[in-house]
Order: sequence, then structure tokens, then C-alpha cells
Amino acid sequence: MSTQADATDDLTGTRVELDIGAVAHGGHCVARWDGRVVFVRHTLPGERVVAEITEGAAGARFLRADAVEVLEAAPGRVEPRCPVSGPGLCGGCDFQHVDLGVQRDLLGAVVSEQLSRLAGIERDVVVRPPLSDTAADGLGWRTRVTFAADPHGHLGLRKHRSHEVIPLEDCPIASPALPRVLDTPWPASRVTAVAGSTGDRFVAAYDVTGELPDVDAVGLMADGHRVRGRGWVREEVDGREFRVGGAGFWQVHPQAAATLVDAVRRAVEARPGETMADLYAGVGLFTAFLAEEVGSSGTVISVEGDPRASRDARRNLHGLPQARVVNGDVEQALRRGEVGERADVVVLDPPRTGARARVVRRIAALGPRRVVYVACDPAALARDVKTFGEEGYVLGSLEAYALFPMTHHVECVAVLDRAS
Ligand SMILES: C[S@@+](CC[C@H](N)C(=O)[O-])C[C@H]1O[C@@H](n2cnc3c(N)ncnc32)[C@H](O)[C@@H]1O
Repeated sequence: MSTQADATDDLTGTRVELDIGAVAHGGHCVARWDGRVVFVRHTLPGERVVAEITEGAAGARFLRADAVEVLEAAPGRVEPRCPVSGPGLCGGCDFQHVDLGVQRDLLGAVVSEQLSRLAGIERDVVVRPPLSDTAADGLGWRTRVTFAADPHGHLGLRKHRSHEVIPLEDCPIASPALPRVLDTPWPASRVTAVAGSTGDRFVAAYDVTGELPDVDAVGLMADGHRVRGRGWVREEVDGREFRVGGAGFWQVHPQAAATLVDAVRRAVEARPGETMADLYAGVGLFTAFLAEEVGSSGTVISVEGDPRASRDARRNLHGLPQARVVNGDVEQALRRGEVGERADVVVLDPPRTGARARVVRRIAALGPRRVVYVACDPAALARDVKTFGEEGYVLGSLEAYALFPMTHHVECVAVLDRAS
């Protein structure tokens, strides 16, 4: 057989014994086999496992695998609380087999590693649970879930790195307050169930092909159109109410919004009369609290790309004339001067891809004394922190929160100050 043929041999299904090394970003750990890196799910650093290759050819730079048998377990391994978590099953969770405290240690190690590798910054990162954690067992916290339908309309979640839907009767990390959408088949490709903190609930179905089932006492949306009831929920944070429509972003853990508002307020250290920008602002969560802090002599420009979220933001910020909503792409808004010529503080909370260099450089050009970066992806954060460094901004405090228990996701709030 030629070398070429060897290199393309699919190794999927091959079983190998592995010594598991450090955790890596993405919900897996790193091992080495036959001179290659293997990213192994369902394991922990320090374990020895039998792993089944799930992706990769003989000549590939790296392989993916699932631990299918644990030969030597590491401290922190626990019995998964979900019957469909594990190799080849639901891809919704990454760390069902890990004690919650150890999950936070793993997340902290990932943030540290990303900062070191991508930004050249050495920092120990401690990941904390959310404030007043009502889901302290890591279950029942997801207040928004989008389920996919299998060919029979049964809802479930997809396998890891696959389009295959694993039908579910229950999802232990989903909030018990969610509308019960898993009890019945749906003539739709996906169904989002939402439970607001005020008790409001709605269901949104997409690619609807038939009559939708009756889900009790909730609003129902079909392909963006209202079928009955409300297609939005009211959320409450620190005595303020926010309206969040079907497409609008809202944090999924019930304590996430309050936890991040608290972290952002402490990080910003607002002074009355200051000018601020809240970029990627959603329905105006941070804008509202920052506007209170800068007072009527200050200004907060709230920039959000989704027009419906911006409409909700205008309602949510009613009564705060110092807050102004700009609907549009952040980079364009900065380029067109819609955020102004200067700002004292910029808060940004971009999607997983991060802000990227062009936006970072435009933020720096506003000359803020401080940038507060809320990040849902540590790799994107590290890349953007590096660019901020090139623009003369130094990483100060960095708080990290486990707002997505059982998964590899972690939320960071980083302070960047202009070097004097
Ligand atoms: C992580 S959410 C943050 C929302 C808000 N800060 C909150 O905590 O509720 C990111 C938001 O950025 C918006 N977005 C994504 N890309 C954008 C872009 N290029 N320009 C403007 N907004 C964008 C999304 O619609 C979403 O509302």
C-alpha cells in the first residue's frame, strides 16, 4: 500500500489505550497516540482510558476520540446525571461525568491556557459559580433551549459534531419552568422553549409544515409569526424589567444576567457624567444599569445588530434619556462615528467569534480609560486581548463564571486599562 493510501485510511472506530493529559478548549482533553494529538471527550486529566477514534485519518494532524472505558479514573469523576450523556449520545453536555467544582477547575485551566497561548499572558483563573446559585447541583438551569426534530418530529439534541438528533424525553439541565415541548411530536425542524424569570413562557417553532400542537398557557410563534399569546417574555434583574422577544439574546442561566450586571458594574467603576458605549448590547441589559450609574449628565450608546432586539432595547431603556440605541453592525457604527468620537468606557459583549482586530482598533481609537470585555469564548477573548495590548491596553482584573454547568462554556469579564 502506498504512503498516500495509508495517510487517508479512516481510523474511525479504532480503539486505543490512552494516558489523558490536560484539558483543552472545547470540552475535551489532550492525549498522544502514534505521534499525534488526540482530543478525547468523556474523560479527565490523569485518567487512563480505552478511547474509540470518532474522527480522523491515519495521516491527520490530530484525531478525535471518545473515552469508552475508564481503566484508571481521576478524582472528580462522578456518575452522569443524564442517561443520554456519554460516548455516541447527546452532544448537549460535555462534563456530566465531572464533579461541579472540578468542572470549574477545568474551565479555569482552559481560560489560563488560552490567555497564555494566544495572548502571551500568564494568569491563574478562578472560575466562580453564579451569584445566589439556585441551580447549585448544575441541573435545571437552562431557561432557553432549542431542540431539533428527528425525521418523525420527535424533539431532541444533536450528537456531538453530527446532524443526527438524539430524541429526548427529558433534559436534566433544562429548567423545569420551560414549556413541556418534549411530550409531543412537532411538524417543524426545530423548536425553542423559553421561560422568563417573571413566569412568562413561550415556544417558537421553525420550518413549520403542519398544525402545531397545543402547549398549555404559553405564547406560540411559528416561523417568526405570532400564533397565539405573546412571543416575548419579561425578565427581571435587580428590580428592572426587560422585554425579550423571540429572536432577542438573553443569557440562559437564571442567575447569569444578575451575575454579569454585578461584575460589569464593579469592573466599569462609572463616574457620573461619563460617556460610555455598550457594544453588542442585545435588549439593553448592561446599558440600563450603566445609564443609571452615569446619571442624567452622562451618555450611554447602546449598539446592537438585531433590529427586533434594538426595538426591545428602546422599550427597555424608556425613562433613561441618557441611553441611546443604535441599531446596526458594531464595526460600521464605529466607522460611521455613530458611537461618537470618544468614550470614557467601552463595554463589549460580542458573540463567540469575538470582536476581531478591526473592531478592537476602532474601540481603542475612542480612547477609553477602560474597556470591559464580557466574553463567552476564551479563545476569542485571548485573541482580542492581544490586539488591545498592541493598542496600548493592559489586562487588569479577569473574573470568570460557570454560567453553563455541565458544558465547556465559560463566561469571562475582563478589564483592560489604557497604559499610562
Ligand atoms: C452575547 S450577546 C450580548 C447581549 C447583551 N450584552 C446581554 O448580555 O444581554 C451578543 C449580541 O450581539 C449581537 N451581535 C452579533 N454580532 C453583531 C454585530 N456584528 N454588530 C452588532 N451586534 C451584533 C447579537 O445580536 C447579540 O444580541
